[in-house]
Amino acid sequence: MSKILVTGGTGYIGSHTVVELHKAGYTPVIVDNLSNSNIQILDQIEKIIGVKPQFQEFDLCDVEKTAQFISENPDITGIIHFAASKAVGESVVDPLKYYHNNFFSLINLLNQYREKPINFVFSSSCTVYGEPDNLPVTESAPVKKSTSPYGNTKQIAEEILEETAKAYGNYNVVALRYFNPVGAHESALIGELPNGVPQNLLPFITQTAIGKREKLTVYGNDYDTPDGSCIRDYIHVVDLAKAHVAAIQLLEKGNPNGKYDVFNIGTGNGYSVLEAIAAFENASGQKLNYVVGPRRDGDVVQVWGDVSKAQKELGWDAKLGIDEMMSSAWKWEKYLQENPIA
Ligand code: NAD
Ligand code: WQD
Repeated sequence: MSKILVTGGTGYIGSHTVVELHKAGYTPVIVDNLSNSNIQILDQIEKIIGVKPQFQEFDLCDVEKTAQFISENPDITGIIHFAASKAVGESVVDPLKYYHNNFFSLINLLNQYREKPINFVFSSSCTVYGEPDNLPVTESAPVKKSTSPYGNTKQIAEEILEETAKAYGNYNVVALRYFNPVGAHESALIGELPNGVPQNLLPFITQTAIGKREKLTVYGNDYDTPDGSCIRDYIHVVDLAKAHVAAIQLLEKGNPNGKYDVFNIGTGNGYSVLEAIAAFENASGQKLNYVVGPRRDGDVVQVWGDVSKAQKELGWDAKLGIDEMMSSAWKWEKYLQENPIA
């Protein structure tokens, strides 16, 4: 079966995608420099799928190592490119780290395929829409000027990929615009491993519930939404992983839409922060200690996706709802307490 390179494959979304690729009959091969993940994740993946995936540790900004790896693996037919720096706040403080890592790794990888066909799936983000004018937001909504260097790397990377696919003819590209990935594998053997104090809602909720954090602060309840808190389209990471398999399958068949395409990947449903907390309390049976604080700078008020294009053209649909997202995230947090990965 086809060999698929998963860059960033020991990371949060990458590790779940490795599992789903294997289940779908592919041979996933991981490259990761472990800058934001742990080598133990390979053993965890092995516990789920029964084999340890092929893995090489190096930095994808390294031109020689990347070229050597690609020449040693000529049977790679597709790449899913997760490897990137992803902390929005850090990108504001250290933008060059983000422009360096996210662009050099991407361009370096693309440059290895100037002479041969390659299917390429890119991790983009709903952050490209900013605060959308219409909801649910469709793929044709305008891309708004990014409020962070991280978001800007996603916008520009999409442009790089579109122009590359158009110019050369041998690159077949799909960019997936993820909404808010949450949750963990049902086995609780893999999940999100935030570095330091979590910036994202779900790991902050589960770390508070387990006692690692004293309390969650809800960033504002005076927005123009039904309960005053911000609304997001949370998507279970296993559904998201499956969307990558569907994207590879579409590229293998030949995408009738052409060499470059974009899909929203979410559930199409919006949940407020307060609703997410209530769903967590319901799924976990834990009361969460939270307070309402001031708004967070740069937060979008509300965003959820129109996912009909992915349903029709990728043949993919989110199957797991907010209860499974919350219960799997909680199961993973409890697993980590008993089996720390550090
Ligand atoms: P993650 O940090 O868990 O995974 C990224 C992996 O890439 C890490 O294992 C890291 O060690 C590796 N990496 C980074 N730079 C590298 C380099 N130069 N060479 C080799 N490996 C490198 O992040 P994630 O949440 O799994 O996100 C995966 C992708 O999805 C990223 O591109 C991210 O921007 C994008 N994305 C994430 C979210 C989210 O909320 N998690 C939302 C939208 C898009
Ligand atoms: C969700 C909601 C917060 C923490 C960010 C990036 C985006 C994407 C996903 C990659 C918001 C609220 C959060 C807390 C809270 N990443 N919140 N208290 O902001 O939608 O998106 O991650 O592409 O680019 O910007 O996700 O999980 O940080 O927040 O009240 O302690 O939870 O205000 O409404 P966000 P998030």
